[in-house]
Amino acid sequence: MVVILGIESTAHTFGVGIVQDGKVVANVKDTYTTESGGIIPVDAAKHHREKGKEIYEKALSDSGIDETEIDAIAFSQGPGLPPCLREGLKFAKELASKLKKPLVPVNHCIAHLEIGRITGSNDPVMLYTSGANTQVIAYSSGKYRVFGETLDLGVGNFIDTFARYLGLGFPGGPKIQKLAEQSKNYVELPYTVKGMDIALSGILTNLKQKIESRKYSAEELSYSVQETVFSMLVEVAERALAYTDKKEILLAGGVACNPRLKEMCKKMCDERLKKTEMFVPDNSLLVDNGAMIAYAGEILFGAGIKTPYNKIEDLDIKPRQRTDDVEVNWK
Ligand code: ATP
Ligand code: FE2
Repeated sequence: MVVILGIESTAHTFGVGIVQDGKVVANVKDTYTTESGGIIPVDAAKHHREKGKEIYEKALSDSGIDETEIDAIAFSQGPGLPPCLREGLKFAKELASKLKKPLVPVNHCIAHLEIGRITGSNDPVMLYTSGANTQVIAYSSGKYRVFGETLDLGVGNFIDTFARYLGLGFPGGPKIQKLAEQSKNYVELPYTVKGMDIALSGILTNLKQKIESRKYSAEELSYSVQETVFSMLVEVAERALAYTDKKEILLAGGVACNPRLKEMCKKMCDERLKKTEMFVPDNSLLVDNGAMIAYAGEILFGAGIKTPYNKIEDLDIKPRQRTDDVEVNWK
């Protein structure tokens, strides 16, 4: 039996998850939110510092596992906001020293992708849509290769900024989803796909002008944003499927919680001549969470990637680490 505890702290969420032999047995988190405006990194870090212990204890009691049974502690090493990453690292180091157990550093983006395995997906094209990232990825010879990505903003950050323009707080995604469901009136927005890449900042400027003109309702703009931007995502994902000749698509990251994105993706799969299957983990595993860190941590731990508790001093955060920089030596 292998028990891995995972700690997530890269941005808005502090989460602790526990995975036992590939099964999620606890996934507790708390997210820093705002009434209006975006994330203030030092405030998010303060949130993590204050909530850490309580979340950890709840995860243990949910799982029924005693902390002495933990084999290793996985933590999100990067990318992310430095003050938030530092809180997670500190928590992880203290726990490793106390329990005398090794640390497993995990790349946050790779955890978003690896948790997809829990759905039974085997060799997919991955559409990773989260706050800071928007990428179409597939695994090939030792690395997660990025086939296409946003040329400017991540789609989650784009939606959050649009929500902020409407006077809504963070996170904006779920609020925009609700508004979008109340309209069917499409207002034309720029559509920017370049090969397998997309660009979003022009759409944001256009939206700002439309909001300021007061000619459109928040509902119709939200609806139009989802229809336009999700179509762009589905288009690049389909192109990557055709290019790689793969038969599976896996959705990853917080924006994939959106039912309209899932619906559009599913439709694309059903309409392809080549049989294509869509996989998407439960929403609780899509937005930042500790279980995905524990899950990826278990895979890395199994491949011998760990730092013993008496050698953790030099371990540091990696705020800018890219998905395709990571050597995947566990597959
Ligand atoms: P990254 O993984 O790139 O570092 P992140 O960790 O901030 O970014 P996640 O936690 O995976 O990203 O996702 C958070 C994002 O998902 C936020 O931008 C949020 O608005 C968006 N989101 C959450 N739910 C929905 C939804 N129902 N519809 C659209 N977007 C959503
Ligand atoms: Fe994330």
